[in-house]
Amino acid sequence: MLKAHPLKQAEQERHNQLIRDFFKEIRGEEPTSIVLHGNGQEKGIYKVVTPTEQLLAAAGSIDLSRKLLPEYNLLNILHTSAPKFFPRPIAHYAPKDANSRGDLFLMEFLPHVDVDYIKPSDFQKQGGYFRNLAYEIGRGVAIVNYKTGRFSSEPHDGNILVKLTNEGQAIDIKFCDVIQFRQGNLEDAAQSILEDKFMRPECFRFIGKFRKGLVQGMSECGVNYDEAMQNTEFLKQYNAIL
Ligand SMILES: Nc1ncnc2c1ncn2[C@@H]1O[C@H](COP(=O)(O)OP(=O)(O)OP(=O)(O)O)[C@@H](O)[C@H]1O
Ligand SMILES: [Mg+2]
Repeated sequence: MLKAHPLKQAEQERHNQLIRDFFKEIRGEEPTSIVLHGNGQEKGIYKVVTPTEQLLAAAGSIDLSRKLLPEYNLLNILHTSAPKFFPRPIAHYAPKDANSRGDLFLMEFLPHVDVDYIKPSDFQKQGGYFRNLAYEIGRGVAIVNYKTGRFSSEPHDGNILVKLTNEGQAIDIKFCDVIQFRQGNLEDAAQSILEDKFMRPECFRFIGKFRKGLVQGMSECGVNYDEAMQNTEFLKQYNAIL
């Protein structure tokens, strides 16, 4: 994963103004606060609070020719097909002078955090947490792949978000940064998770649980157990014990 450069002050000001313009022009209201929430290679991400809701705004950085409309459109497609695994898209905004100011899109602000942020000892027995995480990632990957024909090509920390529910006993996962979702089958999806053992270490380490999650996800999409096992035979190349 490339380390992102911090956003320059001027860039943050440009984003801030875009967000304010969106709210003024489209919603006829002023946000109560706009706070930088994170940034990667190509976007600034802001938590925006209004009197009635919390939203997440993504604004393009550095290269103004990189417009965010394709990412917004892809989020709509993915969210429509697998709504439990993506933030809800809200709006795309391009001002008249978008060529010099860039565009932005807004989505639901999730209460989830980056997957490696959670310190499992705070919640559960460590091994149990990572086993469950491998299972839930497998399940999510299979459901998203069966419903959308796509997979996360960069499933690293920051692109998978988690929330603990049931007093830390259950894990809810979401995917973000959808522009990196590519077309491919389940094997492509699993390969992107397993090809580098540091990418998703819990899935690599607890590959049996990861497989169970994939099988469960497939069964939720109507695939029978024998077929789901057959469809995951390729995992043996990563671990002969399977
Ligand atoms: N809907 C959301 N709700 C809450 N937090 C989010 C949401 N979407 C993203 N985040 C947080 O913001 C961070 C950056 O978002 P994202 O991964 O989409 O952008 P990025 O990595 O900057 O993208 P790029 O690599 O295209 O520059 C994520 O790692 C995550 O912590
Ligand atoms: Mg990202």
